[in-house]
Parts: sequence; C-alpha cells; structure tokens
Amino acid sequence: MAKILIVGGAGYIGSHVCRALAARGDLPIVFDNLSSGHEHAVKWGPLVRGDIRSFAELERAFSEHRPDAVMHFAANIEVGEGQIYPRAFWDNNVGGVITLLNAMERADIKPLVFSSTCAVYGEPEIVPITEKEKCEPVSVYGRTKRAVEIMLSDIAARDGVRFAALRYFNAAGASPDGDIGEEHDPETHLIPNALKAAAGLGGGMKLFGADYATRDGTCVRDYIHVLDLATAHLAALDRVMAGPGGFFCNIGTGNGASVLEVLSAVERVTGRPVPFEKHARREGDAPELLADISYARSWLGFSPQFSDIETIIDDAWRFHKKAWGIS
Ligand code: UFG
Repeated sequence: MAKILIVGGAGYIGSHVCRALAARGDLPIVFDNLSSGHEHAVKWGPLVRGDIRSFAELERAFSEHRPDAVMHFAANIEVGEGQIYPRAFWDNNVGGVITLLNAMERADIKPLVFSSTCAVYGEPEIVPITEKEKCEPVSVYGRTKRAVEIMLSDIAARDGVRFAALRYFNAAGASPDGDIGEEHDPETHLIPNALKAAAGLGGGMKLFGADYATRDGTCVRDYIHVLDLATAHLAALDRVMAGPGGFFCNIGTGNGASVLEVLSAVERVTGRPVPFEKHARREGDAPELLADISYARSWLGFSPQFSDIETIIDDAWRFHKKAWGIS
C-alpha cells in the first residue's frame, strides 16, 4: 500500500482520484484548506486541513503521515476569475507549488503528479493538439499552469524531482453512484450549467458564441469523464514512482462535442428541454480544443472507457439530481 498526499483532494478531480487510489488499496491523505473543496468529499483517508502556501502546515503533514508521493490539485481554476484576480492566481497556483516543492525537498519526496491543463496551449494552430504544439497561453490561469511546468522541468533536472504534468482537456461527469461530482460555486462549466437549466433551476442557460468557424458555429471541446481522468492519474503516479524523468501528457479523448451537441445530449439524457439564449462570445474561448492522446496511450496505456458524451452526462445528472433533491 502506498501513501499518497493529495493536495486539493477535497475538490472535484482530487476526490475522484482518492476514490480510485483507495479502490486499488492505496491510502490517500487529503491536504486541503476547504476553500473550494468539500469535507463531505473526503471519504477514503484522513483529512489534513492546511494551505498549500504554508510551509509549516505542509511540513507537519509530511512528518505526520510520511507519504510516498504527492498529487497536486489545489489551484484556482476559473479562467475568467484569473483575469480579474491575477495576483491571487499567481500566489496560489505558482507560489503554492514552490512552497510544496520546498516541503517535498525537506521531506525527501521526489514523485509528483501535477494537474496541468490544455489552457497551456492557448489558441493552437493544429488540432488535435499534441504535446509538441507551442505553449502560448492566453489566460492568467493558463500562464500560471505553464509557469509551474517550466519550473518543474528546471527543478527536476537539478534536484531529481520526478513529475508528470497532466494536461487535462474538459473534465466532466461524476462517480456513477452519484456520491461525488462537480460542485463549483459559482459554476461556470457547460455541463453542470446545462443540467441546471434542464432542472429548471436558475432560469435558462447562456450559450456563449454561435458564430465560430466550427461545424455548427459553437465551440468544440474534448470532454473526458472524471473516472477516466482518475485512471490516467494512477497510471502517471505509477510511472513517476517507478523512475526518474519529467513528463507532459495530454489527457482527453481525441473526440469533440460542440456546445449545441452537448445541449442536445443533455435533453436526450434528462428527457427535459434545455432553455438557452445565445450570447456574445466569452473572452478567451478558443473555437476548438481536441487532444491528440497518442502519447497518453503509449506512455500510460491510457484508453478512455466512460467518456462518450451521454455516459458523462448521465453520471453528472445522477449526481446533480441527488445534490439538488430531484427524483
Ligand atoms: N459555455 C456556455 N455556457 C456556459 C458555460 C460554458 O456556452 O454556461 C461554453 C463555453 O463558452 C465553451 C464551452 O461551453 O465554449 C465549454 O466551456 P466550459 O466553461 O465548460 O469549459 P472551458 O473549455 O472553458 O474550460 C476548460 C476547463 C478549464 C480550462 C479550459 C482551457 O474547465 O479549467 O478548459 O481552455 F482552463
């Protein structure tokens, strides 16, 4: 049994990774300040309340629990918010990781799986996107994640940190038992917002931009089920625990769905209409983001199992119905 410190393990993706680790017999130790995570999502190991920017709190967690490796999920993730509060994003997303790396160095822990994002690519010229595409992020959020990637490369080369930076595309879905899922406040992501509209909560949905040069004019994204994402994390963890190196790896499916296709799928799955209004484009939205996952397939043996759009929405709907008290 390996003990893994899950920094940000009370959040959406972190809690699913905890669940997957526990299912294979590892012990996830959650380190989270609960600023956006939820105590009720910590079910598979102890919770250490602490902030990633506090060396003392991290050091205490390392000396008390003596983990074998670290997985990092504790970040500000909302792209629009980053444009308004850049200092907070750099402080938490980059300053926090520097502190984490210093605490790992003190505890002599080398393996790290880091949550990166397709936002590091900005507006790519070639889609599907390979890891060789140039990284020119167009948002504060993307720049903070890219900054950490560069920092990890520099530090790994010198200090022997072994890392995997997983560049997620659009994480979506929930655990099929409806137990844990996406609970952001405010919620900005498409699928939960579409489900909310279908449930008749909070009025209609805003569709941002119907004039893109895509098949139906709306943005195309690569939605990856959070269960598949968790599987990819476990495989990446095994790689970085097994030996040295620094790796950058896309995690998506290679298939895309447009906003309108997602709304139709939500209507099919829920059996309810999704009222929406067309609005102007949202700043910073690229027309089409699709992963080339050749590297994930070869390096991690990755093969998405649950990521067709209806399965994703079906699982998310089950979770949200339970959370919203809908039968
Ligand atoms: N959208 C709407 N209405 C909504 C919400 C979203 O029309 O209420 C549209 C967006 O404009 C976009 C698409 O649905 O075209 C997907 O939007 P999301 O907010 O669900 O996801 P993003 O693609 O913007 O964000 C994802 C990750 C981020 C990451 C980003 C990188 O969730 O963490 O990709 O581009 F930074």
